[in-house]
Amino acid sequence: MTKTATKKTVSTNKKTTTKPKPTAKTLPAKETDTATGKLPKIKVSKKKKIVFLGSEAAPFIATGGLADVLGSLPKALAKNKNLDVSVILPLYSSINKDFRPEFKFLTNFNVSVGWRLQYAGIFYYEYQGVKFYFIDNEFYFKREGNIYGFYDDGERFAFFSRAALDTIARLNIYPDVLHCNDWQTAGSIIYLKGMYYGDENFRRIKSVFTIHNIEYQGKFGMDTFEDLFGFTSSIKNYVEFDGMVNLMKGAIEMSDIVSTVSPTYAQEIKNSYFAHGLENIINRNAHKLYGILNGIDVDYYNPETDKYLFAKYSAENLEGKAVCKAELQKMLNLPVRADVPIISIISRLVSHKGLDLVKEAIEPLLSKDVQVIILGKGEIGYENFFNHIARCYSGKCVTVIAFNQDLSRKIYSGSDIFLMPSKMEPCGLSQMIASRYGTVPVVRETGGLNDSIKAYTGVKGNGFTFSDYNAHDMLYVINEAIRTYQNKQEWKDVQNRAMTTDFSWKVQAGEYEKLYNK
Ligand code: GLC
Repeated sequence: MTKTATKKTVSTNKKTTTKPKPTAKTLPAKETDTATGKLPKIKVSKKKKIVFLGSEAAPFIATGGLADVLGSLPKALAKNKNLDVSVILPLYSSINKDFRPEFKFLTNFNVSVGWRLQYAGIFYYEYQGVKFYFIDNEFYFKREGNIYGFYDDGERFAFFSRAALDTIARLNIYPDVLHCNDWQTAGSIIYLKGMYYGDENFRRIKSVFTIHNIEYQGKFGMDTFEDLFGFTSSIKNYVEFDGMVNLMKGAIEMSDIVSTVSPTYAQEIKNSYFAHGLENIINRNAHKLYGILNGIDVDYYNPETDKYLFAKYSAENLEGKAVCKAELQKMLNLPVRADVPIISIISRLVSHKGLDLVKEAIEPLLSKDVQVIILGKGEIGYENFFNHIARCYSGKCVTVIAFNQDLSRKIYSGSDIFLMPSKMEPCGLSQMIASRYGTVPVVRETGGLNDSIKAYTGVKGNGFTFSDYNAHDMLYVINEAIRTYQNKQEWKDVQNRAMTTDFSWKVQAGEYEKLYNK
């Protein structure tokens, strides 16, 4: 996603004016609603107001872990009666069709994107106690296929970052805390702190910037600095890095608090091995850096109610899990056997997920009495490799190249062991989901994997772990997991510990509240 935009985009949107303007430093004009002639009324509450900005949130639009977090953390916070929680998202054309007709149009106005003026329409929807605002601009967000990876991503999120602040002003929903996530909304913090401070209402807003993955920083050629982002020269020192615009770096420097998604990752990114070039920036800002482990939505991922499962079950009664396993084996043409351990991987097929270790270890692993299931999509080299292995070991190994919610739940529930040997993992949610379904994780001790899964010792621990990035070490602990699996009593114990570990937001949302109160 890191990419250099050097090309000046010529918009075909009718609402675009091509007349070059001086860099827009001004706040949005408080125009009236073109539809009703009036500004919409939004209830102003006395609660502490938190506005989240992000590029995806479940169940509206989801491609990765960020969507899980923005779909569940705001909801958990909103349970606190003293908080008023909103989320602002782009109105992609691929937004979940079940919800789209319910969105209510509020207003529209124009937004400066460098010298361009672009249309922004604002839609509103309240869901699970959270106020969602969606920013509409078809030129930027009506696209086929994925929601990222376009030549003009820089421009799309420059627009969104600025439009989000303008929405706050137009609707008069100035928050106490603006909580931005990843590079796509890093620009909002840069505008807020560097260009919107002239307005008292913006000046008093505190900002939190959360790094979900430091690999994707939002880097663009310096020619975009004024032309695209409309940044003023006074903020050049904050935003420039290595001769480029670096949005993540700018937000780290300018936000009041930086957080990342696990305590271990907060330490790791001080180190060049993990920091993708930003280690000095992280170290310089370490005084305001916090690591808070993500939670998962335990209502959504619940084996007692999950509609995708072949049978429902709980930590107290695992009969349904045996049904899930047998049905999964049937469905994937694996021999239906209760006694063989199913080891599964559900992952994006990219290198930092530790797949090179799996490549090295999979044949020795398949020489044992096991069944292996791989579900995921990603780099073509891995897809081909795992397809090839599945062909060579048919009846023992199955590969499905897809993102598939339904199948993923059937695999989470029907498996015994969940393998996640990531090279780097800021937090990782799959190990928590697997645990919830009683599938015991085998993980490498990095980032959030290290903070959520502790090695089973016979008296404590909820999974199996190894520390060095080494296929033999991984194989060793997988074998340990298999040995434990064969001892029914021990397995029941570790499985129960995995299932009953509290991965809900209950505790972690409180950690964010503490940050907001700082
Ligand atoms: C990113 C990270 C992942 C984390 C997720 C949510 O996708 O790579 O580890 O769980 O964000 O914070």
